[in-house]
Amino acid sequence: MKIAVIPGDGTGPEVTREAIKVLDTISKLDGFAYETNEFDFGGDRYLRTGEILPDGSLDELKAHDCIYLGAIGHPDVQPGILERKLLLETRFALDQYINLRPVQLYPGVETPLKDKGPDDINFVVVRENTEDLYAGIGGFLKKGTADEVATQTAIYTRKGCERCFRWAFEYTRNRNNPKGKRLTLVAKTNVLTYGHDLVWRTFQEVASEYSDVEADYNHVDACCMWMVKNPEYYDVIVTTNMFGDIITDLGAMIQGGMGVAAGGNINPDPGGCSMYEPMGGSAPKYTGQNVINPIAAISAMAMLLDQSGQPASGAKVLEAIKLVTGTKMKSQNAGKMGYSTSEVGDLVCSALSS
Ligand code: IPM
Ligand code: MG
Repeated sequence: MKIAVIPGDGTGPEVTREAIKVLDTISKLDGFAYETNEFDFGGDRYLRTGEILPDGSLDELKAHDCIYLGAIGHPDVQPGILERKLLLETRFALDQYINLRPVQLYPGVETPLKDKGPDDINFVVVRENTEDLYAGIGGFLKKGTADEVATQTAIYTRKGCERCFRWAFEYTRNRNNPKGKRLTLVAKTNVLTYGHDLVWRTFQEVASEYSDVEADYNHVDACCMWMVKNPEYYDVIVTTNMFGDIITDLGAMIQGGMGVAAGGNINPDPGGCSMYEPMGGSAPKYTGQNVINPIAAISAMAMLLDQSGQPASGAKVLEAIKLVTGTKMKSQNAGKMGYSTSEVGDLVCSALSS
């Protein structure tokens, strides 16, 4: 397995180190080989050279089986510049059309939802990752004047919907939730009567091929209510790009915050190159203090393994994470974990080896 590693900004390198430590441990235990190549993309390089994704770097990244990204975001760079280029351009250029965000409350992790536990908060969001309002279609008219007009167009294609829904149905089938296999489409068909009509029809068509999976539907506003009130209802959610962006932050909060949430930008096609990342930002004020929670970063590594041909190893890493959060850590907050960043990484490694 050839992995391109972008440790990135702030505390990104600290948490990436722990994820790689865990990868190294599990690879030895399970007997598979891997190779990492580091790329210094991020705020520092941008400030030094003006480059974010230098010419040819997408091809270089693509030559790897997958990409592991620590964090991006630099206090001296205007928010949005690095993210748009490094995250969004990579998603589009590598056609990473699935954004996978498990919303899983690990044992010992606190949720703001009263009376909900790990059995209640355990679902997965599959977000379409290349279309919708993210397509970058639009423009200005009479910019800067009192008559200014701006447009930002959401696009949905039959092909884009179909490939995402098919992947989501397969994922739901294989996840094989003992509570029942249910895929909930989250959209807004009552208002987006063109775009989400296509979305809805495509979903129904693909659903007809998966009689073993319950094909379900929620409007996005109702979904936000249920995620808080009855998260146990959900098994897998599939949704459009913009709504997916919003509900996955809600999901991250109910699973205990950005310190534990992980995500994947996946191109599942043969030869596709996917990118995995912890959801927490670069947390610049904690840089170098060895206090940031690496659980999200290690979870992203578990997902990388799961999706890159080592699912058994990924499952073991996930179990080790749960053992550590459930029995060792005091909290998931920076500085209050009871352990340092590197000690948490060590704990996961020893849980794997035991
Ligand atoms: C995410 C992020 C990105 C998005 C930003 C940083 C461009 O919020 O991965 O969810 O909007 O997709
Ligand atoms: Mg987001």
